[in-house]
Amino acid sequence: LDRSEEGVWRYKEFMPCNKEVSVAEGNTPLYETDQLADWVGVKSLYIKNEGSNPTGSFKDRGMTAGVSKAIELGLKNVGCASTGNTSAALSIFAAKADINSVVLLPAGKVAMGKVAQAIMHGAKVISIKDNFDKALELIQEVSERENVYLLNSINPVRLEGQKTIGYEIIEQLNWNVPDSIFLPVGNAGNISAIFKGLREWRNLGLIDKIPKMVGIQSEGSKPFVDAIKNEKETIEQEMNPETLATAIRIGKPVNGPKALEAARETNGTAESVSDEEIVEAQKKLARLEGIGVEPASASSVAGLKKLVEKGKIGKEEEIVCVTTGHLLKDPEEVADVCKKPIEVEPNLDKIIDLIND
Ligand code: F0G
Repeated sequence: LDRSEEGVWRYKEFMPCNKEVSVAEGNTPLYETDQLADWVGVKSLYIKNEGSNPTGSFKDRGMTAGVSKAIELGLKNVGCASTGNTSAALSIFAAKADINSVVLLPAGKVAMGKVAQAIMHGAKVISIKDNFDKALELIQEVSERENVYLLNSINPVRLEGQKTIGYEIIEQLNWNVPDSIFLPVGNAGNISAIFKGLREWRNLGLIDKIPKMVGIQSEGSKPFVDAIKNEKETIEQEMNPETLATAIRIGKPVNGPKALEAARETNGTAESVSDEEIVEAQKKLARLEGIGVEPASASSVAGLKKLVEKGKIGKEEEIVCVTTGHLLKDPEEVADVCKKPIEVEPNLDKIIDLIND
C-alpha cells in the first residue's frame, strides 16, 4: 500500500484508473461505540462514518474514480440521476476538474442540503416530475443520445472507488475481519462494491474471510429485502417506493444482481425497518455517540437492532454499521422529528425558568 496517500488513492493498485481529480475523499473515522452497542444489544459495534467525506457522503469515493476515468478518456460532460448525494458528489468533482455536469433529480424528493450542493458547485440541475427510477431511465437514454458520460453506479468505475470503504475498515481494525457489515441499500451499489473489494483481498490472501454483508431498506421501499426473504433469483420492481429516508427511496436497484450475490455468498441477509425505527436509531446515534447522520444512514443501525432482537445476529458478533451520509444533508427531516427551539424575549428570568423547567 502507498503510505504517501490517504483515503481512496491509498489503494491505487486496486483502482481502474489513475488519480486525476481528488478532494481528499475517504479516510473516514471508524468509531467504536459503547452506549449504542448497549442499546442495540451487541458487545462490539463500530460505526464507519462516511458522512465525514468532503460532500458528506460515501459517494465521493465513487466519484473520484468516476470523474478521474472521464478525464482519462478526455470527456467533458458527465451526468447522473440521483436521490441527492450522488449529484452533490458528481458536481463537486466536475467543478474541480473543470468539466460540465448534469443531474436529474426526482422533483420534491431530494433533501435540501443535497440540492444546495449540486446548484452551488455548478451542475445543471433538472428536476423530473417522477421518481428516481424514472430519472435513472432517462439519464441512461440521455447518455446514449448525447455526449454525456454516465456516472450512476451502473458504471462499474464508481464501485471501484467505493470498495475502499471495506479496505479502510479492515485496516482500521488492524487487519481483523468483522463478523458482519451492515449498510443501507438503495440502488445496491455500495453493498456490491464493498463485497467486491473484500473478495479481491480474500482472493489475494490478504484476509481469510469476508464478513456477512447485510443490506437494510425501508419498509416502504424494499425490493431487495423481498428478493432475499423470498429467495428470488431476480429483484421485482417496487412501483411506488416511499420513505422519509429519501436517499434510498428506490424501487428498482440497478445493482440488484450483484447485491444478491454479496448477501448470499457471505451468508449475509437483508431486513426492512419502519421510518419510525429509522428516526429512533438516528436519534440514538446522535445522542448516545455524537454521530449525526441522515435518515438512510440510520437504517443500518435500526436493521441491526431488529436482527439482534430476532436472534439472527449473535450478541457476541463484531459488527460494523456504515453510516452513509451526514445529518446536515436533510435539515428539514430534523425539523420534522425533533423539538423546535424555544423562542423567548431576551429576559434573564424567563431564560432561567426555561432552563429549570
Ligand atoms: N445512503 C445514502 C445516504 C445514499 O445517498 C444512498 C444512495 C444509499 C445509502 C444507498 O446506496 O444506492 O449504493 O445502495 N444514494 C444514491 C444517490 C441513490 O443518488 O445519491 P446504494
